[in-house]
Amino acid sequence: MRFGHFDDSAREYVIERPDTPLPWFNYLGTDGYFGLISNTAGGYSFYKDARLRRISRYRYNNVPFDFGGRYIYVRDDDSGEFWSPSWQPVRTPVDDYSCRHGMGYTIIGSARSGIRTDTRYFVPPGENLEIWDVTVANQRQTAAKVSLFGAIEFALWDAQDDMTNFQRNFNTGEVEVEGSVIYHKTEYRERRDHFAYFGCSETTAGFDTQREAFLGPYRGWDDPAAVGSGAATNSIAHGWSPIGAHQVRLSLQPGESKRVVFLLGYAENPREDKFDPAGSAVINKRRVTPVIDRYTSVDRVDEASRELAQEWDRLLGLFQVDTPDAATNRMINIWNAYQNMVTFNLSRSASFYESGVGRGLGFRDSNQDLLGFVHMAPARARQRVLDLAATQLADGGAFHQYQPLTKRGNDAVGSNFNDDPLWLVLAVVAYVRETGDGSILDEPVVYQNAPGTEQPLLDHLVRSLEFTLSRLGPNGLPLIGRADWNDCLNLNCFSDEPGESFQTTTSSDGKTAESMMIAGLFCAAAADIVDLARHIGRLDLAGAYAAARTAMLETIEGPGWDGEWFVRAYDDFGKKVGSADCDEGKIFIESQGWSILGGAGLSNGMAQKALDSVARHLATDHGIVLNQPAFTSYHLELGEITTYPPGYKENASIFCHSNPWIMVAETKLGNGDRAFDYYRRICPAVREEISEVHRAEPYVYAQTIAGRDAPTHGEAKNSWLTGTAAWNYVAITQAILGIRPGFDGLEIQPVLPTSWAGYTATRAFRGVTYEIRVYRNGPGTAVSLSVDGREIEGSIVPLPGAGTDLVKVEVALS
Ligand code: BGC
Ligand code: NOJ
Repeated sequence: MRFGHFDDSAREYVIERPDTPLPWFNYLGTDGYFGLISNTAGGYSFYKDARLRRISRYRYNNVPFDFGGRYIYVRDDDSGEFWSPSWQPVRTPVDDYSCRHGMGYTIIGSARSGIRTDTRYFVPPGENLEIWDVTVANQRQTAAKVSLFGAIEFALWDAQDDMTNFQRNFNTGEVEVEGSVIYHKTEYRERRDHFAYFGCSETTAGFDTQREAFLGPYRGWDDPAAVGSGAATNSIAHGWSPIGAHQVRLSLQPGESKRVVFLLGYAENPREDKFDPAGSAVINKRRVTPVIDRYTSVDRVDEASRELAQEWDRLLGLFQVDTPDAATNRMINIWNAYQNMVTFNLSRSASFYESGVGRGLGFRDSNQDLLGFVHMAPARARQRVLDLAATQLADGGAFHQYQPLTKRGNDAVGSNFNDDPLWLVLAVVAYVRETGDGSILDEPVVYQNAPGTEQPLLDHLVRSLEFTLSRLGPNGLPLIGRADWNDCLNLNCFSDEPGESFQTTTSSDGKTAESMMIAGLFCAAAADIVDLARHIGRLDLAGAYAAARTAMLETIEGPGWDGEWFVRAYDDFGKKVGSADCDEGKIFIESQGWSILGGAGLSNGMAQKALDSVARHLATDHGIVLNQPAFTSYHLELGEITTYPPGYKENASIFCHSNPWIMVAETKLGNGDRAFDYYRRICPAVREEISEVHRAEPYVYAQTIAGRDAPTHGEAKNSWLTGTAAWNYVAITQAILGIRPGFDGLEIQPVLPTSWAGYTATRAFRGVTYEIRVYRNGPGTAVSLSVDGREIEGSIVPLPGAGTDLVKVEVALS
């Protein structure tokens, strides 16, 4: 069953009814100013940091789940009836509801009693504000008098404090109102140099800035007293809960429509010029007024909306494909690329499932996210890599997270997740392959943000590999530390205290438990460094890490092999995890994927055997589960993984992020059918058909899908902010379609499903457009390339000479 449909030509998903199984949401903004918006206009906004600069308030775990947002009310001033065009918060039935989530904008519209209201929400590129562009149309045969209200609840900046410190917060709220603009300036008199504003393009009939005055005592956002009575009260907030609410009265002839623009924005002033007049407590508005004036003009709003569309034309135009599978096309061409940009911007910080208060940007997460967007935003990728590397510790280790506003490592979580530094290698090498910009390797970068510790970025990569090599356990495999990619496999934490952190509490000395996932990841990172080192003429490094990798591969194929698949880990007692010897958790996905991605078992049949075991024991119709059998009881020596009920999260759900590793591994063995079959099992656009089961958005990946042990098998959770986005993009574009950026050119080595006759693609690479046509001469994966009509050897299209901007490549598969 579906709740909407894809409109590919508009690059939108159109939701046709407001009561989706879960909030189906979208993101606004791609740079400093961000917002989340659901299909009923729920959500919140912030500037750069979801915790420290929260602009609008959101109540978590609310009832209904999705509640609080950018609400518009329409009141028929003749009858007194009012409703919400986005259905929420009033929830009176509306006609012709639709929510169009597009690239950086959302349009929600509906009609009631012959009044149609459509609102386009978006953040103009480069601005720190969001626009709610409302069109109200009178579809009646008679004239209508309507009041339009726009309302937002301000957060008192620090979202954590905003939810907890009421004894102070109920006293600090301050606002100013000037013309049609409400300024929220809590704490501006003291140490904050920033404020928020909520403006309106029209002369308003009234406003409210105190929540209680607008809503009335014992009333909620579903039934505001001011909307009911048709008269805002012009309240000024002194403490309590500052809000912004405007009332606009409209007279509409039959068939007439009017546009009203609401603006929610963030602004900063230089400390020495904050007040006007100086010495007063009044905000200096000289800088912000021109911005507000510009964006309350509908012409400028239209222009900004066109600019946003052009920016997405450009970004998505960098890589477009036409394959025989419609779901694949819509993911690659539109939604997966879009989700990659969102994960790049926000890592795991702010969604409907990540509150934005708990954590900053993940180190391993951000490095992996980069794999999915580096071709779209290379300059930003470069900066991100340098920011991440600057938080690295001098011993090569990494802070697990860092705060986007301060760009410093997060002390609260600390380091010693022993996989973390290796992801930096993958990210940097991906960046250089994509851009050819080797200068980044010489870029001086500090350790642990400490001035004076600068070393070339290449040195950071070497220390990342050395970090692993200097921490090997009894079997010669890498020590796991607090955890590897699977944050919940906590082999050094023996927690029997409720509420204790599995990840930051460490009970053992950490000298025994080993990770096969890190072993495979190390081999992949070492292979990358070897290629890079050869490319830049550092044969010393190439030789050293080729040897280290060979040794690690032997260990993987030795103590890391269980007979039918690769072991997952050795625990603190030296016992195997993920082995036929175990009662539960006999086989895990990560070590199958990563051993093969690192190059293990390719020539001795182990890789094929391991993948056959994955197919036999882990694959379900809804995707590949993380482990089997699921853990049914708590194991002190394994940690958080065993705290989840069977089939959920790290305990045997389909943890989608890990599925593409198997897809890539399958392509290494030339198995395009299996790889693509796995791709489709978790592909949201395919799962659209079973939206009542999947429940999360059909246009983006979710972190997990409940596994076969779960009573709700097939149900997705934690949509949007997941490494699944980048990795599936890598799996489908680089492994299955086989278009891979390389140091010396674009490699094209597809491993397609046998039923495909081929595909075409357009890909920008280092400023040149490649038009690629792949076709079958036979069922296999051997390629013959012809470039601009000339046959070439091998699978790499060499970089063309200067001045060439279009290269045509024909790829025959046989
Ligand atoms: C989740 C993991 C997550 C970790 C750190 C755990 O509770 O299950 O998926 O990586 O917390 O945020
Ligand atoms: C989510 C975390 O953000 C990510 O870093 C981790 O690897 C996965 N969960 C798996 O536990």
